[in-house]
Amino acid sequence: MAGSGRAQLRDGAEALLRVEDLVAEFPAGRKQVVHAVSSVSFDVAEGETLGIVGESGCGKSTVARSIIRLNPIRSGRVVYRGQNLAELEGEALRRVRPNLQMIFQDPISSLNPRRRVRDVIGEGLAVWGDDRGTWSRDRIDELMAAVGVDPRFGGRYPHQFSGGQCQRIGIARALALDPEVLICDEPVSALDVSIQAQILNLLQDMKCRYGLTVLFISHDLAVVKNVSDRIVVMYLGKVCEIGAADELYERPVHPYTRALLASIPDPAATVDVSEGDIGGELPSPVNPPEGCRFHTRCPRATELCRQTEPSMARVGDGDHFAACHHPVLVAAPAPR
Ligand SMILES: Nc1ncnc2c1ncn2[C@@H]1O[C@H](COP(=O)(O)OP(=O)(O)OP(=O)(O)O)[C@@H](O)[C@H]1O
Ligand code: SF4
Ligand SMILES: [Mg+2]
Repeated sequence: MAGSGRAQLRDGAEALLRVEDLVAEFPAGRKQVVHAVSSVSFDVAEGETLGIVGESGCGKSTVARSIIRLNPIRSGRVVYRGQNLAELEGEALRRVRPNLQMIFQDPISSLNPRRRVRDVIGEGLAVWGDDRGTWSRDRIDELMAAVGVDPRFGGRYPHQFSGGQCQRIGIARALALDPEVLICDEPVSALDVSIQAQILNLLQDMKCRYGLTVLFISHDLAVVKNVSDRIVVMYLGKVCEIGAADELYERPVHPYTRALLASIPDPAATVDVSEGDIGGELPSPVNPPEGCRFHTRCPRATELCRQTEPSMARVGDGDHFAACHHPVLVAAPAPR
C-alpha cells in the first residue's frame, strides 16, 4: 500500500520500541481534522538514540505524546517489549508507563510552580505508584546530585532556578521512575545556546549511567545529527527518510532531508547549499497535498509526485529508507 509505514521497519531488528502505522488526528472545527501524524512507522533498538527531526508542525511531539498515550491514537500500534501500548488501559497502562518517561521543551512551565523541587522530582512515584521503589529523601538527593543540582536546594521552588537548572530537574523527575526509554521533546530549544551543550552532555551521561534508550526530538538537524545513532526525518505528518546518522548526513536521498542538511552550518560535500532554498509555505495538515506531501515545495517534483504517494523503500546498503519517486542517489565511497 502506498504510504504504508511497514516498509520502513528494519528486518529482524531487535526493537525495544516499535511504532507501526501510527495515525493521530485532532478535530479542527467544522468537521475538519488536523492530520498530525499519518501512518508513521519506525523502530528503536535497545540502547540507541533515535533522533526525530522536521520543521515545526510536522508531528514530532504528537508522535512522542502518542507513544506515552498523552494523545489519542486514531490507529496503529506502539509495541514496547511485546505489548501494544495503544490498546492498554487502566492498571495495565499504569504498570508499564513508568518505563517510558518524557522531558519537555519548556523546562520551567513543565514543572509544577507550587511544589518544591524535591516533591516535583518525586511526583512521578506518587502518580504512577510507589511499587517501583521507595520515594526516599536519599533517592531524590542522589538524583539531584546526578543531574548537577545541589540537593541542599531541594526545598526551593522551580521559579528560583534558571531554565537550564529546571531542565536538569525535569530530567531528574523523569529518571526517578527508573525508565528504560527517555523521550526528549526539544529538550534544549528553549535554552540559551551556552547552556544547550551542558544539557546535551548531561543527557549523554545519564544515558550511559542508567542504560537508557533515547528518542530525541528536535527541529534542528545539526543538534539531532550530533546526538543520534539513527535519524527519522518527518514532513507534514509523514516519515520521508530514515537512516543511520552518518549515512543520512553523507548521503541524504530525499529532497526534504537534503534541504534541511543544506541549511546546517557544516553540510556534507554531497549536498549543495542551494538545495536549502525550498521556499513556499508549509501546507496545512488539515488539507495535506495529494501524492507526495512535499510536492508543493520540491524542486524535483513531477506529475507522478503530484498524483501518487511514494512508498517507503530501501535505498543503498543497510537500513536506509526513503519515500521519494526521484531520490538523489549519491554513490558510497569506494572501500579503501
Ligand atoms: N491538541 C491539539 N489539538 C489540535 N491540533 C493539534 C494539537 N496538537 C498538535 N496539533 C496540530 O498537529 C500538528 C502537529 O503538531 P506537533 O505539535 O506534533 O508538531 P511538532 O513537529 O512537534 O511541532 P513543533 O516543532 O512546533 O513542536 C500541528 O498542525 C499542530 O497544530
Ligand atoms: S516524491 Fe517527488 S515531490 Fe516528493 S520528495 Fe520525491 S521528488 Fe520531491
Ligand atoms: Mg513539538
